[in-house]
Amino acid sequence: MHDGARFATMKSVITGSGIGIPKNVVSNDALTKIMDTSDEWIRQRSGVVERRYADDGQSSADLGAIAAQNALTAANKNTADIDALIFATMTPAFYFPGNGPVMQAKMGFGEIPTFDIRQQCSGFLYGLDLADSLLQSGKYQRVLLVGADVHTPLMPWNRGWNVALGKEHEVSAEDYEFNTRYRDRTVLFGDGAGAMVIERSENGERGFLKSRLFTNGSNMEALYMKGGSSQRPWIEPEQIVSGDLIPYMEGRQVFKEAVSRMPDAVRAVCSAAGVSVEDIDVLLIHQANLRIVEAITKQLALPPEKVPHNIERYGNTTSGTLPILFHECLQDGRIQPGMLLCFTALGSGLHWGAALYRA
Ligand code: ACO
Repeated sequence: MHDGARFATMKSVITGSGIGIPKNVVSNDALTKIMDTSDEWIRQRSGVVERRYADDGQSSADLGAIAAQNALTAANKNTADIDALIFATMTPAFYFPGNGPVMQAKMGFGEIPTFDIRQQCSGFLYGLDLADSLLQSGKYQRVLLVGADVHTPLMPWNRGWNVALGKEHEVSAEDYEFNTRYRDRTVLFGDGAGAMVIERSENGERGFLKSRLFTNGSNMEALYMKGGSSQRPWIEPEQIVSGDLIPYMEGRQVFKEAVSRMPDAVRAVCSAAGVSVEDIDVLLIHQANLRIVEAITKQLALPPEKVPHNIERYGNTTSGTLPILFHECLQDGRIQPGMLLCFTALGSGLHWGAALYRA
């Protein structure tokens, strides 16, 4: 353990980032072949133009491993340098164990501890806070944080996946009708992963400054998925057929929560850190809907150039969105050393919050 003086200057610093993006691009037009929707509706209501779908059998642990390897390479580190893994996902490769041990074995890490966390769309934000806390505790020198989700298996399509990917030509009229019942949700999501190597630094200038995390489970049914120990058996065969196991979402309610909770969290974390909202150089917002991003930008009176988005190309990748957006901004120069970054997210739980980081 460190002494008090060192604790004061120690910061958790991102020393490398990477992404894992599946190769299959699925346009809005491709989705019109499997359900009653249109490019115009999807663009206008959500901003999504295309998304990526993982290959059949390519899990969130697989995409996470690609992102993790890229982050290790960027940090000039290898698996032996990592003291602990944190994996955030709501779509693990298996019910259990979580993706931590799956990815650990796949990539050949030593017998280091792995933490599997959920928190859905806020998963990476919570992961950042956990990583910072683990490093601040002095137990670990360097952690690898991964956020990855592969939503496609959750989607209610029989042959729809292959049709969306252009491998088959049409779904049955019955499947088309069934898929259309869930069109408000399925058009929003894509698959993707991002990862960061985060290390203790005694430099004291760069790194995590503050975070504010919140949970309110009282209206969890606004966004959730059935199946689990709340019923016997865990999954009923009829539930699969009836669509009862498809994620449930009250879109408008979640939208309203998102456009009030995230700005409040950004204000709260700025106030806790003694900075003003206008001091933020780059606001990285969870990419659930471009309309949500625009509404938050307006509420916080930030110029749009400070609020990047990439939902057009990926849709909502849940735990993947914040690290993918961070990585792309770093790559194209929108994030520069010394800038004040703010991460914010909201998702199923509801969980939400914000974190400040000096690049
Ligand atoms: N294509 C065409 N029409 C559609 C589609 C579609 N894909 N989806 C819905 N519609 C229709 C509806 O049937 C409805 O038709 P009607 O007026 O004839 O009844 C009409 O469009 C309006 O539907 P709404 O659901 O009211 O549309 P809204 O403008 O609210 O947009 C949306 C829906 C995009 C889901 C929006 O509410 C939203 O983005 N909500 C937030 C989602 C979110 O942030 N989720 C959190 C992250 S997810 C996580 O944590 C895992």
